[in-house]
Amino acid sequence: MLVCSVVGARPNFMKIAPVVLELLRRQVPHLFVHTGQHYDDSMSRVFFQELRLPAPDVHLGVGSQTHGRQTARVMEGIEEVFERHSPNLVIVGGDVNSTLATALVAAKRSIPIAHVEAGLRSSDRSMPEEINRVVTDHVSDLLFTTEESANRNLEREGLGERGVHFVGNCMVDTLLQHVDAAIAKEPWREYGLEPRGYALLTLHRPSNVDIAETLDRLLHTIGSVSTRLPVLFPVHPRTRRHLSSSPPATRGDVRLTEPLPYLTFLGLLARARIVLTDSGGVQEETTALGVPCLTLRPNTERPVTTTRGTNRLVGTDPEIILECLESVLAGHWPTGEVPPLWDGRASRRIVDIVEGFLSS
Ligand code: UD1
Repeated sequence: MLVCSVVGARPNFMKIAPVVLELLRRQVPHLFVHTGQHYDDSMSRVFFQELRLPAPDVHLGVGSQTHGRQTARVMEGIEEVFERHSPNLVIVGGDVNSTLATALVAAKRSIPIAHVEAGLRSSDRSMPEEINRVVTDHVSDLLFTTEESANRNLEREGLGERGVHFVGNCMVDTLLQHVDAAIAKEPWREYGLEPRGYALLTLHRPSNVDIAETLDRLLHTIGSVSTRLPVLFPVHPRTRRHLSSSPPATRGDVRLTEPLPYLTFLGLLARARIVLTDSGGVQEETTALGVPCLTLRPNTERPVTTTRGTNRLVGTDPEIILECLESVLAGHWPTGEVPPLWDGRASRRIVDIVEGFLSS
């Protein structure tokens, strides 16, 4: 029996890490593949170190490409891996191109697929991730969900009978395991910031950063935010590329940094006064931590963060963003509650089910 886990891009690492570590703890024979979709040290290697992940057994080195080429390169590389090792189950996570590519190849070779973080839907097909989510779910055999909306989405798409397991959130397993150590590092000090005295910003969605006028307008609003409290902005490589043609906010106090290691970012998240983001994972992390979050998108595939958590969808409208900021600063923001099963045990539930599946 061989289980193969495949990761490729930054958000995969914290989702799949606790599953891989649990498989290894139980001595399940395991092959660990990195596609190389993300390859900078700051986007990849540092996460392996901090999450104490073993080095990948196979690295496909696909790098950055157009969506078609990137997906195709992962497909070619992963097919060779499957030919050589014949795994009995493949585990993929999230919604990046590496997830889709791996799932397509596994499905065509009749290798059962387990999808960690299945069923999330933004209903926005202009997001590349939405296509990846839908296709991956439809070819998967074990669908591990993080919130009840995902179960309903899968049911609606006719996948309800298909091995759907509501297990909770693996990214929160990783968060709970590391948050105390992350806070103990007091990462805000390096930036001259005080706990609860700063905003943390992340921006990397193509819809926000690829079009110069949209990015300019957003950064102007962020400049206004930073007249109320300093904004720390770790800049994703995609955004960095576009910033070189579009100067950063000119007023207020916006501090740009390179992409941050996991523990540094987690410590900063945990003690931020407010977080502004277009990331999927950060919406969940802020809800798990009870930190106010403004999501700079018109929709979310993680609605539990808005119905139960601390997250609000604000789009890119400056007035709404600044109004919400004032509410947070005035202390008028729901503290939220942690969604069901975000309890640090999701990966154990997953490995229980995987072991049952393999022995059946
Ligand atoms: C990808 C995922 C997205 C996820 C994000 C997290 C897809 C479709 N998108 O988007 O869902 O939220 O990762 O980061 O899979 N680059 C580097 N170094 C790296 C990686 C990328 O410089 O290590 C640059 C390259 O210029 C590349 C660009 O960033 O062209 C975008 O990278 P890519 O992997 O295509 O997509 P992301 O925007 O990172």
